[in-house]
Amino acid sequence: MMSEELQKARTFEEIYAPCVPENERPLFHVTAGVGWLNDPNGFSVYRGEYHLFYQYHPYSTHWGPMHWGHLKTRDFLKWERLPVALAPDRDYDRGGCWSGGAVELPDGRQLLMYTGRRVQEKSGMEVAYQTQCLAVGDGRDYQKCEGNPVLTAENLPGGCSPHDFRDPKLWREPDGTYRAVTVTCTEDGSGAVLLYRSDDGFSWRFESVLTRCRNEYGTMWECPDFFSLDGRQVLVVSPMEMRPMGLEFHIGYGTVYMLGRYNREKGTFSRESVRSLDYGLDFYAAQTLETLDGRRVMIAWLQNWATIACQAHGIRCYGEMTIPRELSIRDGLLIQNPVRELERYRVNPVCYRDILLSEEISLEGVRGRVLDMTVSVAPTSGSGYRCFKVRVAKDGERETTVQYEPDSGVIQIDRSRCGAPYDITHVRKFLVRQRQREVKLRFVMDRHSLELFVNDGEQAASLLLYTPESADVISFEAQGGIVRMDVEKYDLAMS
Ligand code: FRU
Repeated sequence: MMSEELQKARTFEEIYAPCVPENERPLFHVTAGVGWLNDPNGFSVYRGEYHLFYQYHPYSTHWGPMHWGHLKTRDFLKWERLPVALAPDRDYDRGGCWSGGAVELPDGRQLLMYTGRRVQEKSGMEVAYQTQCLAVGDGRDYQKCEGNPVLTAENLPGGCSPHDFRDPKLWREPDGTYRAVTVTCTEDGSGAVLLYRSDDGFSWRFESVLTRCRNEYGTMWECPDFFSLDGRQVLVVSPMEMRPMGLEFHIGYGTVYMLGRYNREKGTFSRESVRSLDYGLDFYAAQTLETLDGRRVMIAWLQNWATIACQAHGIRCYGEMTIPRELSIRDGLLIQNPVRELERYRVNPVCYRDILLSEEISLEGVRGRVLDMTVSVAPTSGSGYRCFKVRVAKDGERETTVQYEPDSGVIQIDRSRCGAPYDITHVRKFLVRQRQREVKLRFVMDRHSLELFVNDGEQAASLLLYTPESADVISFEAQGGIVRMDVEKYDLAMS
């Protein structure tokens, strides 16, 4: 039996999703059916297709009691919308069905694990408890399990808060057992990642504290993911209240990846390196899956809680996901590039080689807002240069700039003139991995977003552009010298 709440959300979406004009949505990035979207959830393979759920409040363009929206895809770019999967309709999740994961069961069903948020009144104050809950289904319709919640305060080690216990990400081990990681808040006021285990996917027990934040990287952590990649173990978390650290970490909500050692016997993870996962302005709550052909692909919310002040596009639909990105490890760094399937959607190639560049110029055929463009720059012999600048989404008044200074190795993105009406963070700087005079920048743009990939995916920076789509000029400039520039640009089109 479908609950009234779920029925209502499905009907609402059925009526209003078609009313969102197509030009208010990006072309190939995931958006909500209608209303509000935040974290990706349950990003996983099911019956040979890739499923993605998301934190969803269909009834307004603001965060509210969370539902799970649902889509699926075969190539990460063309998505099929499915009906709302979960609604907050039980005592244990009436405060919202918060983030979680999904896995395919050997009997052909799909298992979802999510955080049920229950709000209770205590001495006149509202107190929220978070527990982990299950639902099983067929890729379209889901039943919440009788035994819910399956992980509660009782399954927390001493000193961990039942008010901050959330965001399970689960997977199946090669031996057929299951693991899940969740986050919690410990006595020192900062986060920890907990490891849970199940033999059948339904009955769960606490295994170990995988690692603690110890107030080193932010305070509370959110949305963990844990996987091995190219012989390394990777932990991804989204910390709250990060302190700035050089140009590596900025203040506030961040997303970091840690490479380290996983001691399977003890269930512990010791971190060896910690870096930003994305250096842009709008990126949070990343989640990954392993594709049918063995690639690790990540998707994230193309937004940050601190920069929600404005609406990038449309008024009926708020929030979008990043382009799914293939991950790999190279020289101790996590490398990320758009999924290779994107190349199938390239049209109208325009290619320039060996342009000698100094003053600001535009190139015939190089403009647009839905595109994939790679720009490579090298100094000409004997000539240094101080700064290389690309301006995008430009018209008479507005522009967003990406610039590289070879002396300092600093890349700066600046959207303060993009048309945004509020004083949220608009500028960010970060250091390239190896300071050198050459630089390669790949711009993936989809109407109101720009995802920048630096030096073949060594770093990425994601941001929203609050600029009307008519502003589609792109220009290039080198200051303090002449550079040699190659440009390869494609429009992206959905066939
Ligand atoms: C992260 C987060 C999660 C939580 C969800 C609620 O963005 O705060 O920790 O489960 O959003 O929507």
